Amino acid sequence: MQLARRLDRLPPYLFVGISQKIAELQASGEDVISFATGDPDLPTPSHIIEHICQAAHDSTNHRYPETAGLPELRQAIAQWYEKRFGVTLDSEKEVLPLIGSKEGVTHIALCFIDPGDIALVPDPAYPPLSMGIVLAGGEPYFMPLREENDFLPDFGAVPEEIANNSRLMWLNYPNNPTGATAELGFFEEAIHFAKQHNLAICHDAAYTEVAFENYRPPSFMQVSGAKEVGMEFHSLSKTYCMTGWRIGMAVGNAEMIDALFRIKSNLDSGIPQAIQYAAIEAMRGPQDCTANHNAILQQRRDKLVKVLNEIGIEARAPKATFYIWAKVPQGYTSIDFTKKLLDETRIAVVPGLGYGKEGEGYIRFSLTIPDDCLERGIDRLSTWYRRDR
Ligand SMILES: Cc1ncc(COP(=O)(O)O)c(C=O)c1O
Repeated sequence: MQLARRLDRLPPYLFVGISQKIAELQASGEDVISFATGDPDLPTPSHIIEHICQAAHDSTNHRYPETAGLPELRQAIAQWYEKRFGVTLDSEKEVLPLIGSKEGVTHIALCFIDPGDIALVPDPAYPPLSMGIVLAGGEPYFMPLREENDFLPDFGAVPEEIANNSRLMWLNYPNNPTGATAELGFFEEAIHFAKQHNLAICHDAAYTEVAFENYRPPSFMQVSGAKEVGMEFHSLSKTYCMTGWRIGMAVGNAEMIDALFRIKSNLDSGIPQAIQYAAIEAMRGPQDCTANHNAILQQRRDKLVKVLNEIGIEARAPKATFYIWAKVPQGYTSIDFTKKLLDETRIAVVPGLGYGKEGEGYIRFSLTIPDDCLERGIDRLSTWYRRDR
């Protein structure tokens, strides 16, 4: 048997290794508190679950769904975008439901990248952004996201030749893992850069609804010209605590949406219809669940950030996302410090290096951890720090 060479270019998926390590420790009776994965601990709101149950009993939903999704779902997505961002979308041509945004984020590379083609990808970043490019045989060119630049890429620093030869540029705000946010002026700059170099823009907007203190992150699609050059990926996962149901969407440029549809219709058979009906309810039904979730996350954010700074792990409170991008104390690499935390406190975090070279020097804490675990985690960190002095 000989596996394809493309597999050699794929590192093991970041969270698989972390989950395995945590599971091993737990199996040996250790009490590990995990701040590692970004997966809401709160259940999917009950009005949404009720729709899944009702739809599951209807046998018309037991058959193959269409890749394009139910027309009613596409309309609900378009209406949600209109209401939330004031963005008008043609639900027939500019909307495509996804089996969670992760599959769309990776599959879109197959629409733009032929072997050897370049794509601009932020560093650090959610790993599937670059892995899609690698699976398509392309070469990511990494744009550093640095604190001194508010974790925004500097388009002027991309060499002219690279920019001219790139097919695609990834952006992601609110950002995983840094928690950084971007405003409309930045998206305008990105569109200008894309037009100059004939690039397509893909914006990953999975976290626009996870935001604090009345801050409302914008959509890339709000900027004039966005539909000419780009598309946006969104997800119900974080907004409605629906990670396990797998549903998201791509919206924007009709040609890009059609290309993704053509790839996907050859690869998958759509989203189970009961889940599509639940998504319609999520987007059209009461929205207070999102505000309530954010209020809980905000309290957790404030508690954790306070303690981290007290114990010498420098961290800023993000305006959006449920991630704290904290600085590793001097003298450690992100991997060493992650190991030290796990060995000495049984607290799991993600080393920044897992998100790219520029992630070195940071660790990521996720706030999707039940309150009692968070409290125990905070106590453990403070006790450990005092003991170490
Ligand atoms: C930046 C970013 N985009 C996309 C996703 C994928 O979300 P889903 O596939 O659940 O829609 C995640 C998940 O953590 C993420 O962090």
